[in-house]
Amino acid sequence: MDYINLDYKPKKSELIAEYLVKPAPHVTIDFAVSQIAAESSIGTWTTIQTMKPRIAKELSPHVFSIKRKTNNRFLIRIAYPIALFEKGNAPQLLSALAGNIFGMKILKELRLEQFIFPKEYLKGFKGPLYGIQGVRAITKVKERPLLGTIVKPKVGLDPIEHAQVAGEAWAGGLDIVKDDENLTSMSFNDFKRRVKKTFEKRDMIENLTNEKKIYLPNVTAETFEMLRRVEYVKSLGGEYVMIDVLTAGFGALQTLRDNSNGLAIHAHRAMHAALTRNPGHGISMLALAQLLRLIGVDQLHIGTAIGKMQGPKKEVKTIFNEIELPAYVSNEMVQDWGNIKPVMAVCSGGLHPLLMPQLLKIFGKDAIFQFGGGCHGHPNGTRAGARALRQALDAALNNIPLKKAAEERPELRQAFEKWG
Ligand code: 3PG
Ligand code: 3PG
Ligand code: MG
Repeated sequence: MDYINLDYKPKKSELIAEYLVKPAPHVTIDFAVSQIAAESSIGTWTTIQTMKPRIAKELSPHVFSIKRKTNNRFLIRIAYPIALFEKGNAPQLLSALAGNIFGMKILKELRLEQFIFPKEYLKGFKGPLYGIQGVRAITKVKERPLLGTIVKPKVGLDPIEHAQVAGEAWAGGLDIVKDDENLTSMSFNDFKRRVKKTFEKRDMIENLTNEKKIYLPNVTAETFEMLRRVEYVKSLGGEYVMIDVLTAGFGALQTLRDNSNGLAIHAHRAMHAALTRNPGHGISMLALAQLLRLIGVDQLHIGTAIGKMQGPKKEVKTIFNEIELPAYVSNEMVQDWGNIKPVMAVCSGGLHPLLMPQLLKIFGKDAIFQFGGGCHGHPNGTRAGARALRQALDAALNNIPLKKAAEERPELRQAFEKWG
């Protein structure tokens, strides 16, 4: 069967996927895209006696666009009838559209670039419980980006030391403290003990500063254990949990979303680069972000454009727009999010106070900027690091050059000595 029809006008009810395709040598693009369409839906490598005309008629996808790019790559779009997908089942979507097709010998490389989810499909998912507005309400910070840190060393501190570092960061002026992606429940840092001690510290600092302080405990674990950790956080008056969405898996994330008991979800994307980093193969961060918004995380790491991790500015901005706007056009594909709330973007990885004006310029105020090394690496320690970050943000918001602001602010001045 040939699934190509370049005159086809996709129906509003169809789900569209965009792929970058590089056929293997001696394979035509027409054969390659037909095989992609078949294997991701109803077909297989050969014709089959069991194919009914009814199935072919109702469930066949249509390749409706093929655009040649450089280096024998083609950008293609396929419209899939919505009946091919189980509503509210994120793993099934990936099993179809990001499944077997990645291993086919007829392809040299394949990259899933983005989706358009039709209204009917959106209805199967919850989307974020809080989203940007909800996060603003929880944190009580309205007019500026939120500032956070990751307790460092990544792992190694005991629960009391962890709480101590968190307290210093909050006291210095940061809004959010989070666990690192590889910190869960360790022999030297038990989850429950850490969370308890850190919330005690939070209460203390909130009383001291009169500012709302947020702790994001990393609940990533086997699913049932993860849910027990959620309940524990809830029982201690937490507002948030953090999860490593890729390593935990999409099904586990859906379970968390359905059982978060009113807690907001902060999504760390560790391992995404195994899928996203090769520009010719894998799954784009944009497509992952779309799926994560659909399932319903409230905050998502999207990259920084200027920090330690790979991710060019244009790409990071596209992801930012896709998760924060009600509808966004990317490469002429329009995703209208309907009632699915916007997600607060998180920029983290290799940031320090002197990058604040650039961050503000690129991402604006609806973002969370997080600083691990860029806080605890301050020559005078965590509290001074946190102060330098608030000073940098205040200056940047008021269009005061950081160098000038640093003249009267010793913590910012010391940050210049280290990172300037
Ligand atoms: C980290 O853990 O160092 C960072 O959060 C990684 O950054 P990313 O958001 O670019 O994955
Ligand atoms: C994160 O998990 O976001 C980070 O660990 C970032 O750490 P960094 O600011 O030291 O790169
Ligand atoms: Mg980290």
